[in-house]
Amino acid sequence: MTSTTTRPRSLSGIKPTGQPHWGNYFGMIRPALELARDHDAMYFVADYHALTSVKDARALRADSHGIAATMIACGLDPAATILWRQSDIPEVLELAWLIGCATSLGLLDRAHSVKDARARGKDLNHGTYTYPVLMAADILLYDTDVVPVGKDQLQHLEMARDMATFVNVAWFGHAAGGTVDDQAPWDGRSLKRPRAIVRDEVAVVPGLDGHKMSKSYGNDIAVFAPAKELKQRVMAIKTDSTPLEAAKDPDTCSVFALYRLFSTAAEQDDLRARYLAGGFGYGHAKLALVAKAEAHFAPVRDRYAALIARPDDLEDLLRDGARRARAIAAPVVARLRDAVGLPPFPLRGA
Ligand code: TRP
Repeated sequence: MTSTTTRPRSLSGIKPTGQPHWGNYFGMIRPALELARDHDAMYFVADYHALTSVKDARALRADSHGIAATMIACGLDPAATILWRQSDIPEVLELAWLIGCATSLGLLDRAHSVKDARARGKDLNHGTYTYPVLMAADILLYDTDVVPVGKDQLQHLEMARDMATFVNVAWFGHAAGGTVDDQAPWDGRSLKRPRAIVRDEVAVVPGLDGHKMSKSYGNDIAVFAPAKELKQRVMAIKTDSTPLEAAKDPDTCSVFALYRLFSTAAEQDDLRARYLAGGFGYGHAKLALVAKAEAHFAPVRDRYAALIARPDDLEDLLRDGARRARAIAAPVVARLRDAVGLPPFPLRGA
C-alpha cells in the first residue's frame, strides 16, 4: 500500500443529471480516468448537488446508478479507484457547514452560476447559492491534491481554494490577508489547498450548433446513443455552405473538431489535407466521424448495458467505495472538529 499512498490524490464529482454526452466524456470522464493511472483517484456521483435542480426521486436514483455504470463502462477500475455516491458520506455536509461559517457572502455572490440566475431573474434556491461551499467540502474532505475539471468549473475550484484559506485563517492560525504562498508545504493539519487540472485541448467540445456541447442547449450527442441515433446526430451538425468542390477550413469546422477527439495525429493530418484539397464534402467528413465515434463507443455502450442490468451489484460497488472514502474522510473531519472546538463524534469514533 505504501506505493499508492504516496501518490497525489485526484478527485472529481459528476452530477447525475441525465445521460452523459460527448462533452462530459472528453471534458471530464476521460481525463479523470487517465489521471487514475498515476494518482490515487477518487470519483463520486454528486447526488446532493443534483438536488439543487432535480426534484424527481426516481430520476435521481436511476441517474446515480447511470453515472456509476458510465464511469466503469468507460474504464474505471473500481478496485483501484474509489467510486462512491456523495450522499453516502454525510460528513461532507458537516464540513460544508464549517466552511460556510468562514466564508463571506461576498464570495458566494461572485459565482457565475449565482450571477447568472440573478440576471435572468431565475429562482435561486439556497442549495444553488451554497453549491460552491458543498463543492469545496467535497474536495477538502479528502485532502485532495488535484481536481480534473472542465473550464466551466474553474471558478468553483478557485473558490474552493479561497474557502480552504478562510478556514485555515479562522481556525488554524494561518495569516490573514496578503497572498497565499502556493509553494509552502502543507502543514498536515489544516485544509489542503487543491489544484485544478484543465485539459485545454479537450475542455470545450462543440455541439451540433457549434456552441459548447451542453444538455441545456439541446446540442449534445449522448455517449450511449445507439448507432442509428449517433449517426443522425452527427449528420445534423451545422456546417457552413462552402460548396463541395471548394477547399474547406478544418479549424472552423465542428465536425473536424469532434473528429480530432477520436483520432491520432496522423489521421487528423489526413483529414485536414482532404478539407484543404477541396472536392471533399462535409457529408464525407461526417461519415468519417460517425465511423470513429461508433468504433469508440460501441464497446462502452455494451459494457454499460451489462452493468445497468445489475443494480444490486452496482449498489454493492458504491457501498464498498463509500467505506473506503469514509476511511479517508474520518480523520479529516476529526481534525476539523477538534480545531473548531466541537467534540469528537461519540457514535462514529471519528
Ligand atoms: N460542480 C461539478 C459539475 O457541475 C460537479 C462537482 C460536485 C464536482 N462536486 C465536485 C467536481 C467536486 C469536482 C470536484 O460538474
